[in-house]
Amino acid sequence: MGDIPAVMTALHEHLKKHDVVVMVSGDPGYYSLLDAIRREFPPESFSVIPGISAVQFAFARLALPWHDADLLSFHGRRPDDEELTYRPRRILGMLTDTKYNSQTISELLMRLGWPPDSIVAVCARLSYADEKILRTTLQKALTEEKETHCVMVVTGL
Ligand SMILES: C[S@@+](CC[C@H](N)C(=O)[O-])C[C@H]1O[C@@H](n2cnc3c(N)ncnc32)[C@H](O)[C@@H]1O
Repeated sequence: MGDIPAVMTALHEHLKKHDVVVMVSGDPGYYSLLDAIRREFPPESFSVIPGISAVQFAFARLALPWHDADLLSFHGRRPDDEELTYRPRRILGMLTDTKYNSQTISELLMRLGWPPDSIVAVCARLSYADEKILRTTLQKALTEEKETHCVMVVTGL
């Protein structure tokens, strides 16, 4: 799905002949294809069926309410330092990628002042048979197995 212009071209082509269903994982409106589709097609021309976001899934697995959490994405982007500021009891829920993964994000947060003992949950392959949820600290996450595509939930001490 990296080549979004090609996906849009294919959509236009298929729509000349029949209706089209676009399936994505998680929720289509959360760092997903909905943005691009809205730029290409008027919103009244399609309907969106919500899905369970990996973030929502992670908080559920951790039995943690997420209404007070700040949600950020490191997937192909990097939030500003100001968005990552440490505050006691602040909760961050983060999407990750290959570059910004469980190790590099833990390192970055500590560099920005998060206590090394802050609890972090690294939630990978959620909903799959090999789902993995690791509860550790920012410091220990540096030497734990690196997870690239996961949800990290960090709680400030
Ligand atoms: C482009 S975003 C898409 C998010 C998706 N729209 C959602 O609502 O979950 C991709 C990122 O979501 C996270 N992600 C997607 N599926 C996941 C899963 N099954 N387990 C853990 N994280 C997942 C990872 O951080 C991944 O790099």
